[in-house]
Amino acid sequence: MLVVIPDVLSADEVAACRATLEQASWVDGKVTAGEQSAKAKVNLQVPEGSEAARTLGDRILRALGNNAEFVSAALPLRVYPPLFNRYDVGMKFDAHVDNAIRGITGLNTRIRTDVSSTLFLSDPASYDGGELVVEDTYGAQAVKLPAGSMVVYPATSLHRVEPVTRGSRWAAFFWSQSMVRDDGQRRLLYEMDLAIRRLRADVGDEHPSIRSLVATYHNLLRRWAEL
Ligand code: NI
Repeated sequence: MLVVIPDVLSADEVAACRATLEQASWVDGKVTAGEQSAKAKVNLQVPEGSEAARTLGDRILRALGNNAEFVSAALPLRVYPPLFNRYDVGMKFDAHVDNAIRGITGLNTRIRTDVSSTLFLSDPASYDGGELVVEDTYGAQAVKLPAGSMVVYPATSLHRVEPVTRGSRWAAFFWSQSMVRDDGQRRLLYEMDLAIRRLRADVGDEHPSIRSLVATYHNLLRRWAEL
């Protein structure tokens, strides 16, 4: 299941992020790649734990904490501090699956990567190529979003970034460990929550069937969540 979340950052916030990234030191993206994916990965990254990555990452995580769509789709237990990457002309990332477990730099903790998120930071008209292609249960889906918008997808998915042929594609990306490890269960909960939210908007909170549906949602979450 791919979920697109528009306007995670406003145009002003994107511009502020980009201004900080302009000043950042970019290094070879192979530093965070596993042994297999290092061969496939040709891009640049802001070093993990650097001042720029921490400041911008915190800003993004604050914006996401209030984002009902992200919380509903990812059911996050722990979120990895966002990283920032960049694909200039000729850069790409061939098909791969991300590492299942990641240690958080500077902290004595690890997360299981259940959900991947990519937040686009470049105007799509400013570059060609650079689509994020995710092999979903419904086949390959190519994603290229406006700056400030984000896609959330299961980290179990094979995915790639197509070569950039003009301009430069900048993005933030990060993983979440979900309270619900199983993609299928997480999808059912998301679809149910979405339907409940639409129903509430249409018929109001007081309808007794909405209370039953909300109760069932929480009882399923209680059954499936691991903390
Ligand atoms: Ni990846």
